[in-house]
Amino acid sequence: MNDEIVTAIGTPNVALVKYWGKRDFKLNLPTNSSISITLDESLNTKTSVIFTEKLKEDAMYINGERTDLNDVSNEKSRFTRDIINYMRDLSETKARALIVSKNSFPTASGLASSASGAATLSYAVSNALGLSLSARELSIIARKISGSACRGVIGGFVVWRKGEKADGSDSFSEAIADEKYWPDVIDVITLVSSAQKKVSSSEGHRMTPATSELYESRPKSAEGRVKRLEKAILQKDFNTLAEITMKDSNSLHAAMLDTYPPIIYMNDTSREIMYAIHALNENEGGIIAAYTLDAGPNPQIITLKEHKNKVIDAVKGIVGRDKILVAGQGSGPRTLSAAESLIDETNMVPK
Ligand code: PMV
Repeated sequence: MNDEIVTAIGTPNVALVKYWGKRDFKLNLPTNSSISITLDESLNTKTSVIFTEKLKEDAMYINGERTDLNDVSNEKSRFTRDIINYMRDLSETKARALIVSKNSFPTASGLASSASGAATLSYAVSNALGLSLSARELSIIARKISGSACRGVIGGFVVWRKGEKADGSDSFSEAIADEKYWPDVIDVITLVSSAQKKVSSSEGHRMTPATSELYESRPKSAEGRVKRLEKAILQKDFNTLAEITMKDSNSLHAAMLDTYPPIIYMNDTSREIMYAIHALNENEGGIIAAYTLDAGPNPQIITLKEHKNKVIDAVKGIVGRDKILVAGQGSGPRTLSAAESLIDETNMVPK
């Protein structure tokens, strides 16, 4: 497969029970299992990869900027380099890689850009090398770059089982139900701010377990929520899904605040949106929407297609209609045609 550009598209995933805290930092092994929805291509990462003997060294460009893969102080670069080397060894080639990647949405703003990037990268690299990896193998590879990415290589509702083994071989994602099972569940994303977060998730994964007493109960309670949520998804029980989603997000952000020094991702606008969702549910006499926040101030509101307009009406006065995106469920990464390539093949540079 060398000398052939492969271009892939992948998407973020939104966690309903979240991953925060690692039992192994090198392998990205989590302290609890987590559940997410892989989103459709409304928000996406496109990545082109070529392996060729024509290059002297590996090069990677993300959103137009060259990323130093040898920068050992940057965990994500280090993991990415290790993954490229690992897959290159698997395919028994010495060719160097040129990787060009672009996100259609703000990076590091709590919209899972790293998950989308790492899931798409793992998929694109394995295809460029002609490796036929199983979903499980791909999930384990993506996990090593960015934990939450291991969920994004699979479509629909996904569970990442934390696993028990020290080598991480049982810590991977699998489908609970694909994107066609309960397609009514959608995500209304509110872009409160596109500013980069002050505390990276990598730092947060370390700081919260190390300093928060509140966090101590989380691994066990999150595991219970994962069990109940899996059942709720299979039964298409939106009420239970929504309540677990909001409670998990709130409990995580409480532990973040309890971290020392505190980690605060929410802002006043995020909180206003949370209140608006509770008010909406109260008016409706039942839960029709659930907010959830990752490591950033942008609430994502999980709802059913039939309630989409009510949810938008409830929050558009707070963030503005132009800051609201709606995403359905997606099927995970896929390859695109050669016409979509981000690489200028003649000069071996980004287009
Ligand atoms: O995969 P990371 O290291 O970027 O951590 C992601 C953590 C959260 O987005 C906050 C939660 C999750 O499960 O996606």
